[in-house]
Amino acid sequence: MRVLVTGGAGYIGSHTMLEMLAADHTPMVVDNFANSSPVALERVARLSNRTFDHAVASLTDGPAIRQMIEDFRPDAVIHFAGLKAVGESEKKPLSYYEENVFSTIQLLKAMDAVGCRQIVFSSSATVYGEPHYLPFDEAHPLSPINPYGRTKYFIEEILRDWAATDPEKSVMLLRYFNPVGAHISGQIGEDPRGIPNNLVPFIAQVAMGRRERLMVFGDDYDTPDGTGIRDYIHVSDLAAGHVAALDYASRHHGIEAVNLGTGRGHSVKEVITAFAKASGREIPYEIAPRRKGDIATSFASTGKAKSLLGWEAKLSLDAMCSDTWRWQSQNPEGYGG
Ligand code: NAD
Ligand code: WQD
Repeated sequence: MRVLVTGGAGYIGSHTMLEMLAADHTPMVVDNFANSSPVALERVARLSNRTFDHAVASLTDGPAIRQMIEDFRPDAVIHFAGLKAVGESEKKPLSYYEENVFSTIQLLKAMDAVGCRQIVFSSSATVYGEPHYLPFDEAHPLSPINPYGRTKYFIEEILRDWAATDPEKSVMLLRYFNPVGAHISGQIGEDPRGIPNNLVPFIAQVAMGRRERLMVFGDDYDTPDGTGIRDYIHVSDLAAGHVAALDYASRHHGIEAVNLGTGRGHSVKEVITAFAKASGREIPYEIAPRRKGDIATSFASTGKAKSLLGWEAKLSLDAMCSDTWRWQSQNPEGYGG
């Protein structure tokens, strides 16, 4: 299929590009490199031994997106592009509504203009908010607690209304849990700008000696070791989930929300231990106060992904850590090195 991949140079987008090329799709990337590097796309081309087009444009630029879609004529879109830092979204909510929600409206209008009726959207488990029960299944009430999470929730609702305009539209809302890891080659991975917000990239920089120690945000949660539990999922498993979702969307109409997680949680301390083992480095850490907005435990119900998409995550926490370490140690400065 001809697939437009928005945000395809980013962390999850670049790994998904590799899976799509391996599955013989014809992708084209649109990215403004706001949080990524063109080097990621060069490496995707090299690793896959395939060429593909890319456009440097912002999705907020409606006329540019429309022209691109008219030229490329995609059968489907995978929509990763957007901003994703929770703390930043609290300081600059309007930027988040513009870059995430307004952009998506521009994209959908351009799709309508050429009759493109399939979209796979990067949503997030953050739409669930505080757990009423665990594991989170797709029927769990939605109650995001920060502007970033609300952009995902609003986009889900917009897509629901868009899907209802035409019985042949097909929308997949993929709710990711905690994507970590890197491609097994060590050639592509997560390259956060500035101080990493997320646990695994921070630990990787501590292991490299780029940061002195990890702050563990709270050890008094109601969990076995007191630290927060999350459903970490290898980014290559997540990427394969997108190809499965695209396949499903091409054979069905309507809208489906699907969790992409492993169904099992690991605590912060378990991740520290696994990363120390994978890297052979000590990970100094200190217990710090809880981080505002964090919940104790989050993990996915994975039954719907398995029954609908025939997909399930395969890779272990050890693989997530050793692949992150390979990427980090081979690319100490990320793509900028
Ligand atoms: P990322 O920042 O690495 O990738 C996003 C890409 O979109 C980047 O390449 C960026 O340059 C591009 N982009 C941003 N705004 C754009 C715009 N206006 N026009 C064109 N391109 C633009 O992030 P990621 O981790 O790969 O996340 C991809 C998607 O998945 C995002 O929508 C994110 O919200 C969602 N998500 C991520 C996580 C996570 O933990 N990484 C979890 C749940 C959901
Ligand atoms: C994981 C655990 C922290 C950093 C975030 C977003 C979510 C989604 C994924 C996009 C928690 C602890 C972390 C540190 C720590 N993104 N931690 N020290 O918060 O589950 O999810 O990323 O959609 O929307 O909120 O992931 O990696 O930040 O934290 O102790 O320096 O690690 O308290 O228990 P989180 P995370």
